[in-house]
Amino acid sequence: MNVIINPRETGFVLLDFVEVFGNRNRVILEIGSGKGRFLIASAMEQPDVNFIGIEKSLHYYRVIRERVEKRGLRNVRIVNHDAFPVIQKMINDNSVSESHIYFPDPWPKRREQKRRIIRPEALGEMRRVLAEGGSGIYVTDHREYFDAAKPLLEQFFRVETRIPGPDDPPRTNYEAKYRAEGREIYEVRFWKG
Ligand SMILES: C[S@@+](CC[C@H](N)C(=O)[O-])C[C@H]1O[C@@H](n2cnc3c(N)ncnc32)[C@H](O)[C@@H]1O
Repeated sequence: MNVIINPRETGFVLLDFVEVFGNRNRVILEIGSGKGRFLIASAMEQPDVNFIGIEKSLHYYRVIRERVEKRGLRNVRIVNHDAFPVIQKMINDNSVSESHIYFPDPWPKRREQKRRIIRPEALGEMRRVLAEGGSGIYVTDHREYFDAAKPLLEQFFRVETRIPGPDDPPRTNYEAKYRAEGREIYEVRFWKG
């Protein structure tokens, strides 16, 4: 089974999710999946939901691919690329039911902030691909990134902020690590429509 979507081979073609997954189940997108903890746990818990993880790092992408293949998960596809052109060119309007973004690189230097995934052009694309009533989660430990991202998210979505409590199970490796260190974590939930 092919768990890979590779735009370097196919070009940035618009994906037909029914063809990609062989079913009409809803699709959840994760941007920057790291070692794939959220992607894999969620895909195992919800076999009737399809998951796409976009991960820029070749190393992490290989880790996820191996884990997905080892478990024989049929409802996961992974893309090793910068998420922005993948979302912009390969994902149809209103086709994603949820978008998850856990601990995206904060790019703290001013000159690098244009690379942040929470930036207007990327949010416009995230809104376009989200189904009406679809939702998303953005989580960070970086206060300055949170303060900058929240008003941007508000321009595109209805948003609610929350601070995960000690009883909320960590969803990703970074969340587990940062929570164990006692770091403050900030979360924005957002909805289209
Ligand atoms: C700090 S790590 C967090 C990993 C995971 N989400 C977690 O919470 O454990 C950020 C991840 O996002 C990936 N990443 C950063 N920018 C990206 C982009 N533009 N497109 C896709 N992945 C990206 C990095 O390679 C890295 O794996």
